Amino acid sequence: MPTPPAPTPPANGAAGAGTPGLGVLGLRRGVTFGTAVQGGWLDTEPAYAAMVAAEAALLVPEWEGKWSALQPQEGRFDFAPLDRILRFGLRHRRQVRGHALVWHQAMPDWLLTALAEGPQRARAVLEAHIATVLDRTRRQVRDWDVVNEVVADVAGSDTPQAGPGELRDSPWLRALGPGYIDLALRLARERDATLRLVLNDYGTESDEPWSLEKRRRLMRLVRGLLERGVPLDAVGIQGHLQMSERFSPEGFRAHVEELRSLGLAVLITELDVREAPRIAPDIAQRDAAVAERVQSFVAAGLAGGVRTVLTWGLSDRESWLLRDPDVARRDGAQHRGLPFDEERRRRPMWQALADAFATLPER
Ligand code: XIL
Repeated sequence: MPTPPAPTPPANGAAGAGTPGLGVLGLRRGVTFGTAVQGGWLDTEPAYAAMVAAEAALLVPEWEGKWSALQPQEGRFDFAPLDRILRFGLRHRRQVRGHALVWHQAMPDWLLTALAEGPQRARAVLEAHIATVLDRTRRQVRDWDVVNEVVADVAGSDTPQAGPGELRDSPWLRALGPGYIDLALRLARERDATLRLVLNDYGTESDEPWSLEKRRRLMRLVRGLLERGVPLDAVGIQGHLQMSERFSPEGFRAHVEELRSLGLAVLITELDVREAPRIAPDIAQRDAAVAERVQSFVAAGLAGGVRTVLTWGLSDRESWLLRDPDVARRDGAQHRGLPFDEERRRRPMWQALADAFATLPER
């Protein structure tokens, strides 16, 4: 991938004006730092757009690359939302990565119906989607999460969806069997021979028993894909961290190294932090704990060979951690799990990322 140019400083005196953003700090150490964005805000909220421009060298659509956004009705593709992000990327000369061609969420009703109509039909809609989306985005998007969240959770995780097998019980699995992962990756490679194909998942980050088991499942899946000659270039580790879970930097580093030993790149794709059910009354203490975990996690990833780090948003103001009932706190407090607070001021997690990047030699 081409090296992105250094991000420009914020135009409006936003938080951190005058000092380089994480994008610049990362590039000095050979790390591409990016974030998930929403195109609507880029267009309508200047302070948000300025923060993104100041901090991120790489963008990923939080919603605009998902099936329900791109193909809300069969055969009627809508690239307008994604185009907002692509235009921002062109204007500011930032890379944009794609997310996600196959996922068990954000599936329009027509797609669920089509998948239930049998494997032939399922294959046809998958092929058509991949072909149209990759053809339309190929000039700007050179890196896609082809399959997202395909490994089944293990009982004991806080979102237990333990099924009979090691793969998530999803409409794709039911329609096409376990081969749907091979198929999606092969179709993507056939359509665009030089696209970087990424398998993205969560839950292999911590040192809890369920996470260690999910690691083993991910490794078995990935080894199987490679043994069968299925094209795969990278694994994305989402990094939705939870403070209530134990974390072992050595263990995580070894996990990254094991993936790298198979010839794969490893990316941290969706970093943010959910705080523990019981939080300290003191904000400074909370922020320090989150920062420490982030520094430890990212530094371990970098030591293992990660060179791309994305957060799932930059500030609390836009974060799904505050909006989405699946992950928001139920005690009235709000997670403080991103590098910027609600006022879009840098918080200790920002410094933790900068410090983690600084564990690599300057280039
Ligand atoms: C999330 C978005 O942030 C939410 O706004 C949306 O409601 C659901 O999806 N893993 C992923 C992302 O791969 O696509 C998810 O994004 C967060 C978890």
